Amino acid sequence: MKASAIAHPNIALIKYWGRALDQPSYLNIPTNDTVSMTKESINYAKSGIDLITHTTIEFSENFIEDTGFLKTNEKLVPFDNVQMKRVVKVVEALREMADITLKFKMVSENKFPTAAGLASSASGFAALATCTSKALNLNLNRTELSKYARLGSGSAARSIHGGFVYWNRGNSHDTSYAEQICECNEFDIAAVIAVINRGKKDVTSDVGHDSAHSSLFNQIKIKESQEKSVEIRKAIENNDFTTVGMISEKNCLYMHSVMMTSDPPLFYWNPDTLKVIKAVINNRNQYFQTYKMINKGVKQKEKEGIECYFTVDAGPNIHCLCRTEDIDAVQYFIQNKIGIQERDIVKVRQAEFGSKIVEQHLF
Ligand code: DP6
Repeated sequence: MKASAIAHPNIALIKYWGRALDQPSYLNIPTNDTVSMTKESINYAKSGIDLITHTTIEFSENFIEDTGFLKTNEKLVPFDNVQMKRVVKVVEALREMADITLKFKMVSENKFPTAAGLASSASGFAALATCTSKALNLNLNRTELSKYARLGSGSAARSIHGGFVYWNRGNSHDTSYAEQICECNEFDIAAVIAVINRGKKDVTSDVGHDSAHSSLFNQIKIKESQEKSVEIRKAIENNDFTTVGMISEKNCLYMHSVMMTSDPPLFYWNPDTLKVIKAVINNRNQYFQTYKMINKGVKQKEKEGIECYFTVDAGPNIHCLCRTEDIDAVQYFIQNKIGIQERDIVKVRQAEFGSKIVEQHLF
């Protein structure tokens, strides 16, 4: 009764921030539908950031208690109580379904910074639900896996799938799950991450999901996010990069406005985040300016600027969304014009799969 799985994190285009108040909070049911792209790194040799979590779980009568470890630099560090509670929540629900009481040992390894706004818990809990289902011989389908991954971390519901993903908020454990909008590369978009800080965030998303409701702007953000989830889904299906970029960027700003106006206020950005955000906007304006001139028949020396958009999760790191053909130009711009070091830049593409069983075990 041992299995391993890998999973990729995702970047939210329509954000989950705040749990539905009419649902039990342990279910992690969001206030609105959300949309994301499951992502994998291209240049991880340079950044050392490979956007993958690898998890192994074993159930055995030899274990006298449930244990969980994070493998870091070849060492096994036991999970603290808070992390362990989230792991047990997912495993316990599946253990009950399998009707067994055996204790487990679990080891998980992130090939990228943990809890630094790069969605390590999304990939972590997607991998956990997937390998646990296998080890317990439940062999659940992706819809079911999505529901159980959600119990560990809401956004993990989306990391079960590759490509573009839509999470229906639903109104119960059974109706709140993610589904794939389209396969990897059916819609052309990539991203370049400017890693501003690899450290753990000061305030967890968990705390933020509770405080979101104290912001005056939360209700309007919920309404808008719900409508835009439907719109962005259509734009993805129509391969409409501009609409996807514009909606994503706005939704990120709505979420951060809620964060900043919650009680207590939450500021995940730092000065470098703002520097990159402003540069992305300037660069894009330049692109549209040149584009307008060319359309008017005014001769331009060369194509200037890049059409790119930003989005930021609960941390200072920025995802610059761009067309695949522009990914090197965006990297060049972030590195040479904004001054972010090459080792802090991660180019990402859509991941073909979200979570997947693998043969290799971590113990
Ligand atoms: C800002 O509760 O899924 O990334 O604390 O990592 O478990 P963890 O995050 P979660 O909240 C995610 C918040 C977000 C937006 C999003 O991914 O939709």
